[in-house]
Amino acid sequence: MSTGYRWLIALVCSVAVADEPSPQRQQVLLNLLKHDCGSCHGLPPKGGLGPSLMPDALAGKSDALLLDAIQNGRSGTAMPPWKPFLSIEDSRWLIERLRQP
Ligand code: HEC
Repeated sequence: MSTGYRWLIALVCSVAVADEPSPQRQQVLLNLLKHDCGSCHGLPPKGGLGPSLMPDALAGKSDALLLDAIQNGRSGTAMPPWKPFLSIEDSRWLIERLRQP
């Protein structure tokens, strides 16, 4: 196989997974969801100090609204900003995950 061809394959692969966290990162995120988010939102996240994050509770809410809550927190409430720890891709992946029944 020529080197040029191999480069092309590497490029296509990296584009295909570009906006999804790596499998290792996904494990870290699931842990975070359980231990950190779970401490306020419950486990499963049916609500506690924070509101329910179950699929039915999120159904009427846009990705943009939820993304903003996760990235920037909600000032004046206990919801902290997660921007220092979670990239936009991480946060999007978590939202997608939470929406799955
Ligand atoms: C210290 C407690 C606490 C922790 C930890 C926490 N949250 Fe929250 N969260 C809240 C509270 C309280 C609200 C409600 C804020 C409000 O009244 O608008 C909230 C709101 C939200 C919302 C908006 C829900 C809606 O219906 O508008 C999302 C999404 C969310 N949290 C996700 C997360 C995720 C993901 C994590 C973990 C990375 C997390 N939260 C960790 C307390 C917390």
